[in-house]
Amino acid sequence: MKESVITNYDIEDDNVLDNTIRPETIEEYVGQTDVKENIKVFIEAAKIRNEPLDHVLLYGPPGLGKTTLAFIIANELGVNIKTASGPSIEKSGDLAAILSSLEPGDVLFIDEIHRMPRYIEEILYPAMEDYSLDIIVGSDDNTRNIRIDLPPFTLVGATTRAGDLSSPLRDRFGITSKLEYYTIEELTAIVKRTARVLDVSIEEDAAVELAKRSRGTPRIANRLFKRVRDFAIVENNGNIDMKICNKALKRLKVDELGLDNTDHELLLAIINRFNGGPVGIEALSSSIGEEVTTIEDVYEPYLLQTGLLKRTARGRVVTPKGYEILGIEKTK
Ligand SMILES: Nc1ncnc2c1ncn2[C@@H]1O[C@H](COP(=O)(O)OP(=O)(O)OP(=O)(O)O)[C@@H](O)[C@H]1O
Ligand SMILES: [Mg+2]
Repeated sequence: MKESVITNYDIEDDNVLDNTIRPETIEEYVGQTDVKENIKVFIEAAKIRNEPLDHVLLYGPPGLGKTTLAFIIANELGVNIKTASGPSIEKSGDLAAILSSLEPGDVLFIDEIHRMPRYIEEILYPAMEDYSLDIIVGSDDNTRNIRIDLPPFTLVGATTRAGDLSSPLRDRFGITSKLEYYTIEELTAIVKRTARVLDVSIEEDAAVELAKRSRGTPRIANRLFKRVRDFAIVENNGNIDMKICNKALKRLKVDELGLDNTDHELLLAIINRFNGGPVGIEALSSSIGEEVTTIEDVYEPYLLQTGLLKRTARGRVVTPKGYEILGIEKTK
């Protein structure tokens, strides 16, 4: 087991907190202005036309608020939401059962939709297009196709890898929205909102500091907040100020940019073992013992965004800024 204090993947203890701090309306949903403004219009129009909202595909790195937004969409539409996740739908009957349980206008949320088996995907095509379900009944040479009408519904799909979606599936979404990393200001607003909801006092500069170290990601901001709150409760009468904030962050081993152990390990591996790069993703993956997909979906996007890592035709390269952050002199 690797020691990694704060990662995007350790979602377990999030869940309890999640339900209390997850925004429920589009007004409370901080940031993602373009996505939000567009979706607001589409929801409004669907309501006026009295038709279901067009199918929505949400994509972007983990923890940026895809699931949250899916629930908000259902809430704003005033309909129920049913949820499923790509890998959990194994048999065509599973999907058929979910689809036939929908009420008119409902939202069906499929998380990790890129991990849905291809033969299941094919059932979705007619469902998305004509609200109908084609099923095969009987066995051996005595089979028949029957077509069942479904109520009109909205599929909301979420994925960290839009590129892994087959194009026929991708093309059936009328609305495609990419979620971006959040700015420091937006993350500060999220931290302050979380503090308010949980009735914790936090000073402005401490909120900004947490925001800066959250890797552009609300899930990480909330998780850091929670850990820092623990230090504040034990050592500072529950008040989160700059001093307790810095102390906690140091203990949690979160650096100034919010990079965690794996981020460091990734950059250091490229520098020490591959001379700063370029290095192919496969070689890097076996070198640090993280899956290629985890590197591509979780770690790399933020390192690219902050300009510490560069992707070239020949592989990944650590930038001069990357060397600087790690305090390593670039040789050669
Ligand atoms: N725009 C936002 N405003 C306020 N809080 C947010 C926002 N987006 C996300 N959050 C918070 O961040 C947490 C993570 O968000 P969410 O679970 O929706 O991410 P996700 O994109 O679905 O991640 P994953 O890809 O891992 O499923 C939520 O608990 C929510 O409280
Ligand atoms: Mg999610």
